[in-house]
Amino acid sequence: MDLQIRGKKALMAGGSAGMGRATAERLAEAGVELYISARREERLRNAAKEMSDKYDTAVTPIVADSSTEEGRKALFSACPDPDILAITIKPPAPNGDFLEVTPAMWRDSIDTALIGPIEIMRNYIPVMKDKGWGRIVNIATFSAKNPMIWRLMSGPARSALINYTASVSREIAQHGVNINNILPGMFATEGAEEIMETYAEAFGLEKSKEVIIAHFMEHNKIPAGFQAVADDMAPMAALLCSPLSRFIVGQNIVIDGGQHHSLF
Ligand SMILES: NC(=O)c1ccc[n+]([C@@H]2O[C@H](COP(=O)([O-])OP(=O)(O)OC[C@H]3O[C@@H](n4cnc5c(N)ncnc54)[C@H](OP(=O)(O)O)[C@@H]3O)[C@@H](O)[C@H]2O)c1
Repeated sequence: MDLQIRGKKALMAGGSAGMGRATAERLAEAGVELYISARREERLRNAAKEMSDKYDTAVTPIVADSSTEEGRKALFSACPDPDILAITIKPPAPNGDFLEVTPAMWRDSIDTALIGPIEIMRNYIPVMKDKGWGRIVNIATFSAKNPMIWRLMSGPARSALINYTASVSREIAQHGVNINNILPGMFATEGAEEIMETYAEAFGLEKSKEVIIAHFMEHNKIPAGFQAVADDMAPMAALLCSPLSRFIVGQNIVIDGGQHHSLF
């Protein structure tokens, strides 16, 4: 299928690893000029070079922390006018006992998972409106719709994010600018691996990858029967970045192997 985005400009905020990287790959494959950002420089530069070599397209790395004003300024000046914007972060660490969650932890979660994406969208929406076309995709989390006691640093801030995009997307769709969100379940990514130790601590497990994954699979029944990889969501993200998705507005697409049991 031709996504009809060849020659467009895309910014993947959080594009050096995991689902952001997989989405960036699908966009590069479809022929977009790509900008990818992340905080850790070496992995980011390697990812940009690998994608640019593989897909023979320009991939510009931007070292920037989306949760800070300074980081966002770096994004805006390096890539002032994308046609396509996708945004992600790394999975926040499990919180352990909910009674131990402090105001500082809430502020960090809100800065990273809510204010960062909102401020990036708020900067680019007028640019896209002026062009008369744009696509925005947030890669958030299925715990926005499916609350889990150990995902307090991830779910509540994303519930607010999808509430925000539900309103804003309907305000701007008339200008050809669509916002949709992908809500992933459990994926084997670099970010998931990085929080495994904290997961083990939260559930009192031995710090072994096999033990942790077995615990996760047992306690989070996934009808599909396996833990996904990043490219299990990237084709959907790329479709939402395309003109082919012109009638898809303000939606939250859960990709979780059927784990979240609900009608909508
Ligand atoms: N993996 C899962 O099982 C899972 C489950 C449910 C929901 N999710 C959600 O899916 C999304 C993607 O997760 P993932 O597992 O793909 O993560 P990942 O493998 O850690 O990839 C995250 C990417 O974003 C970058 N990033 C993280 N924080 C950033 C920041 N503040 N500013 C700029 N770039 C940042 C990372 O690079 P740097 O770290 O170098 O900045 C990396 O390129 C997250 O929203 C996560 O909460 C994941």
